[in-house]
Amino acid sequence: MALTAVKGCNDILPGESGRWQYIEQTARRVFELNGFGEIRVPIMEKTELFCRSIGDATDIVEKEMYSFIDKGENSVTLRPEGTAGVMRAFIERKLYAEDPIAKLYYMGPMFRYERPQKGRYRQFHQIGAEITGVNDPLADAQVLNMLTLFFREIGLTEPTLQINSLGCHECRPAYRSTLRGFLEERMDHLCDDCKRRFATNPLRTLDCKVPGCVEMTVGAPSVLDHLCSGCNDHFSRVRRYLDLSSTPYSINSRMVRGLDYYTRTTFEMVTGLLGSQSAVAAGGRYDGLISQLGGPNIPGIGFAMGLERIALLISNQEFASFPDLFIATMGSGERDVAFHLMDGLLKSGIRVEMDYEGKSLKSQMRRADKLKSRYSVVIGENEAATGRASFKRMSDGIQTDIPLTINAIQLLIGKSQQ
Ligand code: HAM
Repeated sequence: MALTAVKGCNDILPGESGRWQYIEQTARRVFELNGFGEIRVPIMEKTELFCRSIGDATDIVEKEMYSFIDKGENSVTLRPEGTAGVMRAFIERKLYAEDPIAKLYYMGPMFRYERPQKGRYRQFHQIGAEITGVNDPLADAQVLNMLTLFFREIGLTEPTLQINSLGCHECRPAYRSTLRGFLEERMDHLCDDCKRRFATNPLRTLDCKVPGCVEMTVGAPSVLDHLCSGCNDHFSRVRRYLDLSSTPYSINSRMVRGLDYYTRTTFEMVTGLLGSQSAVAAGGRYDGLISQLGGPNIPGIGFAMGLERIALLISNQEFASFPDLFIATMGSGERDVAFHLMDGLLKSGIRVEMDYEGKSLKSQMRRADKLKSRYSVVIGENEAATGRASFKRMSDGIQTDIPLTINAIQLLIGKSQQ
């Protein structure tokens, strides 16, 4: 049987990887501008880390983790998200010792056993950013502004920012029981998942896409009407800072997140262009997570973006790059000259391709066309002897006769780039 990739895991082919590099480079530039530094943590962590951070009763931990027992009898898991591992490193490496304020970003593969469809995969990639040590809503606003700037820099206006507050350990329990009271009367009409969630995590019913559950939760009590005064004040200050920065957003009080560690501000960048996979980026505040994982009582806030989803949103943009010059040769005698020239040009930053196999001139020129080379040159006995050749601009066929020197070629190719 032919070997194929694991279901839900993609190959990013050369024609596509330019788009990925563009997204990654834009993120690095915008994040570093905001003072974030890159952290690289393992792809594999102890299973317990994810159970204790994301939460035992979440879909991720209950159904989606790639967990296995290794040869040393340890339960390990391929990370389903980045925040838990980054906070584990923050605690273990005592990054807070000198300064509790750390601004960290990361990118890489994550793994969730989900039903694959457009925009949803089993191996997918996130670019995430986290700030620790700031209670003030200024941190929330900076993170949201940075996310907004990233999408502007990438050239997308479509994903729009939705924000909510999920309250804190003081006000959320009361909201949870008010919501349970509302749901109790409608229990019979809820889907099996929501019936289960009723006991473990009733807020998730607000997020259920099953039409019956959507209908049954219309008019459900809003979390925003149940915030304590501290959370209420925090949320209104986040909004004020966003208004101050002219960052567009809307409030979505039904937004609940699929991870348990959130407190107060939560948010998503949503798009209508990717079907049901509408969240392109998502995140929130997690003030209790670091202490819950055994670290000091330091707050945090951050987000992660889905690289595949952003790549889909910019799939109409062209990112392929083409050779500057294709060197064709008339006979095997000129291939040394061509190779030497190619080597010099590559060392001076000009992208060159040549015929590797001694093909006919016609097939060499076909290859120059196929590669979309900007220029081509044919080196025969005469060119090798005189040290001059005619360079053809492929777009219009115009020929320019110049010496076969790096400088002259650089000048010709450089000139036409302007
Ligand atoms: P999340 O909402 O689970 O949050 O994932 C963040 C983003 O990752 C989603 O909005 C989506 O774009 C992408 N994503 C998630 N699952 C998949 C999938 N199966 N296929 C493709 N893309 C996917 C987190 O992971 C949190 N750690 C975010 C965070 C950071 N909160 C605070 N700091």
